Amino acid sequence: MKGMRSDIVRILLTRREIASKVAELGKKLSREYAGLEPLMVCVLKGSAIFFSDLCRQMDIPVQMDFIAAASYGRHSGSSGEVRLIKDLDVSIEGRHVLVVEDILDTGLTLHYLTEMLRSRKPASLKVCVLLDKPGRRRVAFEPDYFGFVIPNEFVVGYGLDYAEMYRNLPDICILKEEIYKK
Ligand code: IMP
Repeated sequence: MKGMRSDIVRILLTRREIASKVAELGKKLSREYAGLEPLMVCVLKGSAIFFSDLCRQMDIPVQMDFIAAASYGRHSGSSGEVRLIKDLDVSIEGRHVLVVEDILDTGLTLHYLTEMLRSRKPASLKVCVLLDKPGRRRVAFEPDYFGFVIPNEFVVGYGLDYAEMYRNLPDICILKEEIYKK
């Protein structure tokens, strides 16, 4: 943890701020999905920690499944192509589906995933993101639920990575530019 901390400019959102927002979202979702037994869909890997905390803040019966996508050229501004790496295990036809993602950035990943999932005819399909970076959108996309709107900074921690590192930082932190620009 000590080595990782020296790569950080500052903490953007503390673990306490995150926990209280996740509790608030969990309460809201429990009300809105009461009686619907939603299928909570975790978008791997970044959402894993948020997803597990959020599900535990919901006091209604839920089911869980996992999906993963990869995108190319997100930062270079090139292709923006997204592809599926891991599909859901269950059918979502007629189900109330809530996609849970760590961060909405260009919008390409969630645009792709929601189009694909909608074609499978769920009873409803909504999206909950912890972080929204509206300044970097390349396709129009609005989340149904969000935790925090953040500025155009590259953040790590609480599941979010740079090159597969920093996911286990408990706070959401701004990474030093020299780390991801070298
Ligand atoms: P989008 O397709 O550009 O909206 O990006 C969504 C994915 O990009 C997220 O699931 C993250 O994995 C990644 N991402 C976007 N911004 C950041 C960031 O600031 N830190 C870490 N990962 C990010």
